[in-house]
Amino acid sequence: MENRVYVIGLGVGDSGLLTLNALNAIKNSDIVITPQSKKSKRSVALNIIKDFVGEDKIKMFYFPTTNNEQELKKVYDEEAEFIEKAFLNKKQVSYVTIGDVSIYSTFNYLSERLKNKNIPFEIIPGIASFISLANRIAQPLVLKGESFAVMEMSKGVDKIVSAFDIVDSVAILKVGNRIENLMEIVRRIKPSYAYLGIKLYMEDERIVNLLEDDVQNIKDAYLSLAVIKK
Ligand SMILES: C[S@@+](CC[C@H](N)C(=O)[O-])C[C@H]1O[C@@H](n2cnc3c(N)ncnc32)[C@H](O)[C@@H]1O
Repeated sequence: MENRVYVIGLGVGDSGLLTLNALNAIKNSDIVITPQSKKSKRSVALNIIKDFVGEDKIKMFYFPTTNNEQELKKVYDEEAEFIEKAFLNKKQVSYVTIGDVSIYSTFNYLSERLKNKNIPFEIIPGIASFISLANRIAQPLVLKGESFAVMEMSKGVDKIVSAFDIVDSVAILKVGNRIENLMEIVRRIKPSYAYLGIKLYMEDERIVNLLEDDVQNIKDAYLSLAVIKK
């Protein structure tokens, strides 16, 4: 088969949620490019794959938590060059990312660059965070005839509330320290259910029922998302 870069959605938190295709691609790779936050130094992706790949094969990719276009451009240019070099040297390269690659993933900055360099890549689907949370709480995101949206908390309370004019349920990603905003959305929507999932499928996982549980002690929900259904 023609060599190509594998771009792999790892699912969230637990390596048991990797697909067989993902696992095979990771095991067969010479280099596994793994994102890490420069600020927090955390790598959820590394935790998921660490039992299946030798440390010597892992190339950490520190991505800046900034919206500075220039800084981002520099990082992604360097990354694309690194991949190009490895690919031309006939190395099997994988690029891993949490959840599914199509959802707010760092890879989306790289894909254009790889296309411009004529580097073939194949994306392996992963289980997205909102799918994990819906299953964890055993609630349907949508039933027949209903619709669903995915939004970032940074869109703001008003935009998220107005999405419910069109759809029945919304997944809100990147909640972070905006718990008060999340609670305002809940108060305004008066939903049938509303849950916050923090560090899903990880050791310190926490699932909060926003209609019943006390949210006072949640200050900063790092790695969390909410699903709300009206
Ligand atoms: C950069 S986005 C990546 C989304 C990912 N590609 C997906 O398919 O869900 C990061 C956000 O995904 C959500 N997320 C990813 N993994 C999570 C987990 N284990 N627990 C809770 N939220 C998670 C959080 O909202 C986090 O802020």
